[in-house]
Amino acid sequence: LSYAGRMVMRTVEWRDGKIAMIDQRALPHEFIMAEYADYRQVAAAIRDMVVRGAPAIGVAAAMGLALASLQSLAKDRPALLRDLESAEKELRAARPTAVNLGWALDRMLRRAREVSLVSAGDVRVALVAEAQAMADEDVAVNKRMGVHGASLIRDGDTILHHCNTGGLAAVDYGTALGVIRCAHEQGKRVHVLVDETRPRLQGARLTAWELKQWGIPFTLIVDNAAGHFLRTGRVSLVMFGADRIARNGDVANKIGTYKLAVVGRENGVPIYSVAPTSTVDLALLDGDAIPIEERDPREVTDIGGVRIAPEGIAVANPAFDVTPHRYITGIVTENGIAYPPFDVSLPQLVESQ
Ligand code: MRU
Repeated sequence: LSYAGRMVMRTVEWRDGKIAMIDQRALPHEFIMAEYADYRQVAAAIRDMVVRGAPAIGVAAAMGLALASLQSLAKDRPALLRDLESAEKELRAARPTAVNLGWALDRMLRRAREVSLVSAGDVRVALVAEAQAMADEDVAVNKRMGVHGASLIRDGDTILHHCNTGGLAAVDYGTALGVIRCAHEQGKRVHVLVDETRPRLQGARLTAWELKQWGIPFTLIVDNAAGHFLRTGRVSLVMFGADRIARNGDVANKIGTYKLAVVGRENGVPIYSVAPTSTVDLALLDGDAIPIEERDPREVTDIGGVRIAPEGIAVANPAFDVTPHRYITGIVTENGIAYPPFDVSLPQLVESQ
């Protein structure tokens, strides 16, 4: 990520036995880098959204498990594996919807269990290297998605974007916002309509911050204005990320995505989800089985720490919704763009390299 024209750091980084993360709760007002030396604090940072966005929490969890291997006092491999299995459960429970979290931890555990690793020391070295490799791969995957997705954007397009899918949601570069960034780097003139994305305001705080750094023209709107812009013909396409995509192409993403997709479809605007293949959960046949995180009611009743709703009322705060595949025009991955029928195209893309 860059700030004021200079490279700052990745969203999440391994630094000499510690994990450094940009504290996304403080942006855009303050740029704070937090350091973690305890995997339990990493789990808490994922829960509290110091780090957020499906690919970013996957890599943060992988690094958390590498940290757990260094924290463990186990002297032999079996004892270390037992410690890792309990740390893994804690990290996995931090947030339920984004499948990247479980995907990253599964990959780390597979690596730890490889028979070629004989001693506890072998496992520790391998896990630190694996987590760092995942971070590097994430950046490369985002750039590949950027190129595939940019082919969908024409010079002069206006793109409606939801939540934050930029460098902050990944290790660097971004998914849907990475596509927009790639089109901009190719010299296409693009304009972004930025949904503020209540209740956590990832659009107003983070997407606006990133687009401003990149010099990409944008206009911030409240979520409730999106339908107005879609109906009046001012949106060329809608682009958002994904936290989990079922085999049939149903997409779980930040709350409010479903409404955008339905209104977009009603007005003939193409709808694209942009996500790495690690976000595709082929084990789920459709989106109904995707767990939807329910977050603290205070995210709804309070704004900027100030209570705006009466005390003692009922509040629901689902953090994600599921958009049925019939509203999705295409799904951009690092291996290409999937089109309906997704239950055929998605498995092909996930399995191709
Ligand atoms: O609650 P968040 O901020 O972690 O939600 C993030 C999103 O919904 C993103 O759109 C999604 O993770 C894809 S971004 C790479």
